[in-house]
Amino acid sequence: MTRKKVSIIGAGNVGATCAHWILQKELADIVLLDIVEGLAAGKALDLYEASPIQRADVRLIGTTDYAQTAQSDIVIITSGLARKPGMSRDDLLKANAQIVTDVTKNVVKHSPNAFLIIVSNPLDAMTQVAADVSQFPKNRVMGMAGILDTARYRSFIAEALGVSVADIQALLLGGHGDDMVPLPRYTTVAGIPITELLDQPTIDAIIDRARKGGIEIVNLLKTGSAYYAPSAAAAEMAEAILKDKRRILPCCAYCDKEYNAGGCFVGVPVILGANGVEKVIQLQLNPDEQKLITESINHVKQLTTQLKTLNP
Ligand code: LAC
Repeated sequence: MTRKKVSIIGAGNVGATCAHWILQKELADIVLLDIVEGLAAGKALDLYEASPIQRADVRLIGTTDYAQTAQSDIVIITSGLARKPGMSRDDLLKANAQIVTDVTKNVVKHSPNAFLIIVSNPLDAMTQVAADVSQFPKNRVMGMAGILDTARYRSFIAEALGVSVADIQALLLGGHGDDMVPLPRYTTVAGIPITELLDQPTIDAIIDRARKGGIEIVNLLKTGSAYYAPSAAAAEMAEAILKDKRRILPCCAYCDKEYNAGGCFVGVPVILGANGVEKVIQLQLNPDEQKLITESINHVKQLTTQLKTLNP
């Protein structure tokens, strides 16, 4: 049996660390690509040399040449600028839209049947860009954000309760921005609703910290943004697809009637399996929750409209 192939575009911290998680999980052969001469080749070789220690039988190469990514099963796009302190994800819109456009064109040429997982920010708008440029069916284009945002939320809940992170189940809706919508009603600890275990001020404080989780790391690092958790989240999406796990995960996916989104990419719970986004799960939201998701959808749409005026 030939191994599956995952290409990762961008060998910065997110891309290289994503290769690390995928190697560790022994998911697929990996092509790491970056336009900076030697960067992807150096990191890929270093990581490949760790494979005997990890006992992971995967081939790993680094390159500047898109031809090497040919016939990938999955392409993870991490290219683009990261935030610096004082910047919002939206400040990256114009520069990263150009980068994601160029990358997607090259990717599609060599891997017309791949699934695309977008990681570049502002996430929901960049996923839309990749979908528009690739013209791939909507089930094959998705963005990574919800798993990262819920992982932050779950880790803070585990910490507050002093229990295992493995027992925290959580859902989150909306765009990858400060108006993301964590859903305490759908958050449980081994099946116990968190509302029975934590008081409202504590839950509110955790939600606030999760919403601002990205900027908390940016402010600490000062020179870039988070990468361990974002890349682990992208690898989890790749795993769900490659192993047809049909995981229910919050991902940025195309919604039309769902959540009254009216045709845009936004964070929602989906079933992720061999066909990519197998299904968007529609939750029965209460009016307050629907209001929050609508606000978040409107914010995402503002960004995509802004892009259309920049590149008519
Ligand atoms: C974050 C950036 C990567 O949330 O969006 O950390």
